[in-house]
This record gives sequence, C-alpha cells and structure tokens, in this order.
Amino acid sequence: MPKKLYIKTYGCQMNVYDSVRMADALAPLGYAQTEDPGDADFVILNTCHIREKASEKVYSELGRLRPLKEAAAAEGRQLLFGVAGCVAQAEGEEMLRRAPVVDLVFGPQTYHRLPEMVTRLLGGEGRGLVDTDFPLESKFDHLPEESAPQGSAAFLSVQEGCDKFCSFCVVPYTRGAEFSRPVGDIVAEAERLVAGGAREITLLGQNVNAYHGEASDSATWGLGRLLRRLAEIDGLARLRYTTSHPRDVDAELIAAHRDEPKIMPYLHLPVQSGSDRVLSAMNRKHSGDDYRRIVDALRDAQPDLALSSDFIVGFPGERDRDFAETLRLVTEVNYAQAYSFKYSPRPGTPAAGIEDQVPETVKNERLAALQQLLGEQQLAFNRAKVGQRTSVLFEKRGKRPGQLIGRSPWMQSVVAEAPERLIGHIMEVDIEAAQRNSLAGRVVTLDYALQSKADRTIPSRIDAA
Ligand code: SAH
Ligand code: SF4
Ligand code: F3S
Repeated sequence: MPKKLYIKTYGCQMNVYDSVRMADALAPLGYAQTEDPGDADFVILNTCHIREKASEKVYSELGRLRPLKEAAAAEGRQLLFGVAGCVAQAEGEEMLRRAPVVDLVFGPQTYHRLPEMVTRLLGGEGRGLVDTDFPLESKFDHLPEESAPQGSAAFLSVQEGCDKFCSFCVVPYTRGAEFSRPVGDIVAEAERLVAGGAREITLLGQNVNAYHGEASDSATWGLGRLLRRLAEIDGLARLRYTTSHPRDVDAELIAAHRDEPKIMPYLHLPVQSGSDRVLSAMNRKHSGDDYRRIVDALRDAQPDLALSSDFIVGFPGERDRDFAETLRLVTEVNYAQAYSFKYSPRPGTPAAGIEDQVPETVKNERLAALQQLLGEQQLAFNRAKVGQRTSVLFEKRGKRPGQLIGRSPWMQSVVAEAPERLIGHIMEVDIEAAQRNSLAGRVVTLDYALQSKADRTIPSRIDAA
C-alpha cells in the first residue's frame, strides 16, 4: 500500500517551495501526498520562525495532532511526526523536549537527507532524530527531479540564505549563508516546469536579487541576466521574483524591467521603515532617500511598475517622529499593497537585547495607522484598474460555481466567470469592480499564445463550454 504524506506549510514562499521538494524527496520511498492528516503515515510541519506567534502556532498544532498518533498506534500503525523549516532549525533538540510527540527535527538545508532519516526511523531507530546541519553539499544536488507538476504558476528557488544580518531578523541564523544555484540547473528546472504546464514562474530567494550564480562559461550572472535567459523559454509567459533587498537592485536588473515584457510590472521591495535613524539601528545599510532613488530608477525604466513592501513598526527606540517618517515615505512611494508587522523580539538577534523596547499599546496604534494608509493606497490602486482591460492568468476555481480566480500582472487577485478549461490560460479581462483585496471582471479574449493564427476569433464573452 502506498504511504501517505501530509505537509503543512507556514511562513514564506521558500517554505512552500521546500514543501514541494520534500514531497519529491519522499516520493521514491512510496509516499503520496494527502490533504488529510488523519489519513497520513508521515506528518510534516514546515515551520516559520520570523515572529513570535509563528513558532507558538507550531507547538499548538503539534498538540492538536497528537491524538492522531495515539489513534494510529492503537491500530498498530506507525505515524511519524517531523518538524522542518526555521523553527526546527532554531530549536533543534529543544523541540523534542517541548513536544515529545515529534520523531524528527530537520532544518531547511538538510531535507535531501529525508529518505535516509525516514528509513532509519522506520528501521527501529526509535524517535528523536535531529539534523540541523548546514551541510557542505547543496541539497539541490541531491534532490530527485520534481515528481509532480506545480501547475500554471510555479515557484523556483534560485538563491537561499542571507548575509545581511538585519538586527531584528532570524533568517541568517535559520537559513544560513547566501548561496546561489548554478544557471544551468535553474534553466533546466524552469524548462521542466514549463513542460509541466507552468505559464508563470516566480524565482525565490531570501535575497533573490543578491543572486550571483555560475553559468556554463564560468561567468557569474546576476538576477537581471538570469531573468533575460529564462524569458527565452517558449511557453513561459510571466516571470516574477521575490524577495528583493534595496541594496541589491543593480543597473542590470533595472534594465531587465525596461526591456523584458515577460517580467511582470510588480516588485516586492521591503523598506521596513522610513526613518534613517531606525534603518541604521536595523542594520539595513540604506537610507529612506536611497530607497526613494531606487524606486525612481525602477519607475523610470518601467513606468507601469507597482510596488509592495514589508514594514516593521515599534522597532526598539522608534519614536513618534520616526514613525511619521515611515508614513511620509509610504505617502510618497504609493504602494499597490504591503505587509506590516509589529516588531517581535527574536531570541539571539541583536535588536532583542536593546533596552528601549516600544510598549505594545504604541505598537498597536502605529500598526493601525500604517495599515489604514496602506489599505487606502491598495484600494485606490485597485480602483484605478476598473474600466481597464488586463491579462489574467487563471489559477484555480473561485468560491462560487462557474468562477475562476487568477492574477493580474500586478499580482491582484481577479475573479471572473469562466469555464474550468481556462485554468492555466492567460485571458484578457475587462475589470468591472474593485475591492481592497481583489478585482472582478469579464473575460474578453481567448489565449492568443495558445491558438494558431487561423483560429484567432475573438468572442466578446466566453460562455461556459
Ligand atoms: N528577506 C526579506 C524579508 C524576509 S522576512 C527582506 O530582506 O526584506 C519577511 C518580513 O518579516 C521582513 O521583511 C520583515 O518586515 C518581517 N520581520 C522579520 N523579522 C521580524 C521581527 N523580528 N519582527 C517583526 N517583523 C519581522
Ligand atoms: Fe532578514 Fe534582513 Fe536578510 Fe531580509 S535581508 S532575510 S530582513 S536579515
Ligand atoms: Fe519564516 Fe524561515 Fe521563511 S523564518 S519567513 S520560513 S525563511
């Protein structure tokens, strides 16, 4: 009987990609994925450590899942519990002590060793394996090829780790040092994804624009050059990348946005704060004006570019006037959408030790004010699309029957009535309504790229086939 694998993923898109690759690594052992943990022989929680609540959620989830293990044991079945990702990396052995239900703890850089770890556990080595190494070998060289297509919008990790050490952040400790995959491996993986039906690929990295990968001519390529190369792949219509750091936006990347229409006009470029004093304490190594200059250069190259960002409010020592600088920067840049968080002290990071922590009430007030402003900008950006025609890559069924959900070039979620066979296709859609988090529209054309010239008829509306 095939064994069942249940993976629950927390945190960033790199974790989403890693979960897909863990399933690939376990496929040769006979594990097929299930959506139901009650049905599983192996449960993996792929965790995130970025803020306090993230790790607490993992412990409570483990508590909730515990009865499943007891039920399986009563049936004479062995149900394995694994914890992966950044909490696993940070907690290591401690995780086994705090949650004795766990059999296996492994970090983001060791999941290529999963088959070996699982074989040892099933072979009677009991429980309690921990592997939080930063091995010299790269997991990418030891993972099998992708076993199942990811669908029309796929993720591809090109870079991992971070050497920036922002003073609030755990990522350099949980993911390790910066590493870029070679160009050839990335191109081959992208070609396989496209052959499997991907029309859009999002390149991933904790610092994706710090990418510096080796090409076959031994030259080192930056992200701009890599994007241009990937844009040559036939059938691939859209490229995105995330997350970028302002310091690594170079002229080559800006030029790629200018010249390459497959690079979508949307960029997540976190600034964290608008105050130079806070930015310096955060060790971001850029000022508010540096960021404004980068945004101007990008918008000169691609006037259609929509921007997104991350913000932290209540960083230790942040005063009202610092926060006012953040609001000023937001007003000037004008974001299409953004994420904002209250500062959360992370054990072992320099900022956690600063005496001057901001009271919770102040953090709450600042977060509410920032989110109010960002929400207004997002709604205005979405409303400006009403009455316009735009392309949408349909990815999945909508909530109501007969509806599909897709994404605009600017990452907006777009709902439209369309037959299911259009999932995976890029359609022209007339936008008719806008809310803060989504657009609604009407499909107008068939996917040109997928039709031969002869049958390019343009129905004014596609009715359910
Ligand atoms: N590599 C990306 C971000 C990775 S973490 C970058 O450099 O921007 C994603 C976001 O989580 C960060 O941008 C930051 O806004 C937020 N974050 C990270 N550590 C945090 C902390 N200790 N408290 C609150 N938010 C945090
Ligand atoms: Fe964290 Fe800063 Fe690295 Fe981003 S650049 S992952 S915020 S340390
Ligand atoms: Fe979280 Fe680790 Fe990603 S801490 S945000 S899962 S890199």
